[in-house]
Amino acid sequence: MYFTAPRNDENPTVRPLARAPEADPAFRADVLRGLAQTQKAVPARWFYDMRGSQLFEAITQVPEYYPTRTETALLQAHCPAVAERIGSDATVVEFGSGSSIKTRILLKSMPRATYVPIDICGEFLDEACAALQGLFPALRIVPVEANFMNPVHLPLRQDGEARSMLGFFPGSTIGNLTPEAAVDLLRSMRETLGTNAHLLIGIDRVKDPQRLTAAYDDAQGVTALFNLNLLQRINRELGGSIPVGEFRHVSRWNPLASRVEMHLEARRAIRFEVDGQPFRMEGGETIHTENCHKYRPGEMRVLLAASGWRELEHWTDSQGDFSLILAKADGARQEP
Ligand code: AVI
Repeated sequence: MYFTAPRNDENPTVRPLARAPEADPAFRADVLRGLAQTQKAVPARWFYDMRGSQLFEAITQVPEYYPTRTETALLQAHCPAVAERIGSDATVVEFGSGSSIKTRILLKSMPRATYVPIDICGEFLDEACAALQGLFPALRIVPVEANFMNPVHLPLRQDGEARSMLGFFPGSTIGNLTPEAAVDLLRSMRETLGTNAHLLIGIDRVKDPQRLTAAYDDAQGVTALFNLNLLQRINRELGGSIPVGEFRHVSRWNPLASRVEMHLEARRAIRFEVDGQPFRMEGGETIHTENCHKYRPGEMRVLLAASGWRELEHWTDSQGDFSLILAKADGARQEP
């Protein structure tokens, strides 16, 4: 296959290059930097191309992956109480809305809400909003295409001030960040939402390591495909020659960091190129692809407090597997 894109201005000819024209420069930079490290690593955010997003949806259905079904049941049980507390006409701001499936449960309890989904992928955002509007024809939707890792200006200040603001961050996505980065993000959410806001957040709990590692290494092999798809994406978008079949998916519990780690382990010594740059790996060496931090209830309170949020409600399931927390921006006026 021929790729265009000359490497420098001095040689602007079209020639076969190991680089796809549509490659995201940030993806290229992250991969090249990550593969050059002693512990090779690629940030987990690059999992989510079209196939990766589909595989993630499939992961949420496998028996070992308890977080989605547990959180869904918690939302069904407790969203009416959230609506009663916040007001059914609140402005709901979802961070990283994706397919907005869980949002439907929340919005059912808040029929007069304004919904503000924030997502970095405009295309995905449009599709999700169209689907949601079909289900809730009267819902006012204000989509915002942005990277929610930084404070986001919401295009509804006037309107937002009159109503209560509720941030929504389900799925334990917070666990994919280091605790330090999680504090930064929660602070930035507080800034986005304003001083009187509430936050409804789902966080996965520490539990038996065997259950945790199984949740990230299901028997059907869907999570393995999800992990290996990252290598296929590198090959396709960055002109890589990684022998994907020579890697195996690894899910391991790191007790010191309280997290499940996903790695891709080379089965034997290999050499490959990405974007024209050579790399080598020994047999048994890994590429670290994801961290999934798990928290104890007290640690969640500390995490929230460190970022300016006070826990108001903390719900869990009968096995204590997952937490759904309603928090309020600290320093906000007390409710009457
Ligand atoms: C998106 N995120 C919350 C998932 C998790 O559980 O950390 C990603 C995932 N990776 C493998 N399985 C699920």
